[in-house]
Amino acid sequence: MVRTSRRTVLAQVSALVCAALASLAGCGNNTGGSNTGNTTGTNGANSTNTSNAATIKIGHYASLTGSESTFGVSTDNGIKLAIDEINAAGGVLGRQLELITYDNQGKPNETATVVTRLCTQDHVTALIGEVASGRSMIGAPIAQRYGVPMISPSSTNPDVTREGDMIFRVCFIDPFQGLVCAKFANERGWQRAAVLFNREAPYSTGLADNFKSAFTELGGTIVTEQAYAAGDPDFGAQITAIANSEADVIFIPGYYTEVGAIARQVRARGITAPMLGGDGWDSAELANTAGEAINGSFFSNHYSHEETREAVQTFVSKYQERFGAVPDGLAALGYDALLITVDAIKRANSTDGAAIAAALAATQNFPAVTGNITIDADRNASKSAVILELRDGAQHYVTTIAPD
Ligand code: PHE
Repeated sequence: MVRTSRRTVLAQVSALVCAALASLAGCGNNTGGSNTGNTTGTNGANSTNTSNAATIKIGHYASLTGSESTFGVSTDNGIKLAIDEINAAGGVLGRQLELITYDNQGKPNETATVVTRLCTQDHVTALIGEVASGRSMIGAPIAQRYGVPMISPSSTNPDVTREGDMIFRVCFIDPFQGLVCAKFANERGWQRAAVLFNREAPYSTGLADNFKSAFTELGGTIVTEQAYAAGDPDFGAQITAIANSEADVIFIPGYYTEVGAIARQVRARGITAPMLGGDGWDSAELANTAGEAINGSFFSNHYSHEETREAVQTFVSKYQERFGAVPDGLAALGYDALLITVDAIKRANSTDGAAIAAALAATQNFPAVTGNITIDADRNASKSAVILELRDGAQHYVTTIAPD
């Protein structure tokens, strides 16, 4: 009930702001702050209206459906929450924000199609996306070509922002994440690590490499390296090799979609070594697919809903009130990505792509939910990581590891 009235109040505030600005700015037909999932191109109908009266369009490309759907849905929820707050407070540069989200179904071809549409038909001012590094690397060259600033909320492979000077991210990168996992394993006294990675995903191969070098540098030994492809139903051969390797820990830098089945098969084989992963494990779905097999395993992530920092607790309660779920790291990063973008538009005092990119590059110590964000010379963010333990179907905060 609280939730309903809170939402109603928000809607009323938005409506009032719209009414007040209607003669000046016009709030268009954007009542919900989002045109989620429309891939028919009808969102482009007003896209050539570049007068001050128009909304500022923010594009989001995401896996709203398909096997990695919690990535896209959580991120989109976080963005929506931020957009509605900004709009209720009067918008940006006197204009309301309009979110145009397209579903790429987690597919490479669809990614290229929807990013091109956002740039050339909807004429978005900025792009948010993607979660998966492989798909960000498809979107980035397109955004770069059309001069549209792109902010990845959560792609951690270093190559993403190397695609060009219009490409930014608000998360840490995998050389750091690999070190975080290696340090944690080392502190637990795990000396022998098996690595099981997805040979097709740049995120997985990159993070596997970063972990291996950091782990060996700390004195550990990689006892076996095994690979799989996304969608593989059976990991029997790899698990046999891991069983024979007598590893103390199994490092699995994959997405939640595969880790559930892997964990079940590892435990079914009688292997008791803990499993360790990266941010790709971050989905409430993992507890469902893995069941008890994932209990006592750990992964690194961008934030924990259990952190006591005020920014975290405020965000968690607002998100829960609106969506009825505990926000994962993707929701927090989507929220942060939108706020960083808005901050840059304000400082640029312009919707020009190059001006916004220059302002993004100058971002210093922006207080975000996932930590303070300073954009470095490579257009990345340097931030702490957290280690979470999976226990009884939930994620539990263990520790925070800061960059040196
Ligand atoms: N970091 C992952 C990648 O680069 C994406 C991811 C981020 C997944 C956060 C879950 C949580 O592909």
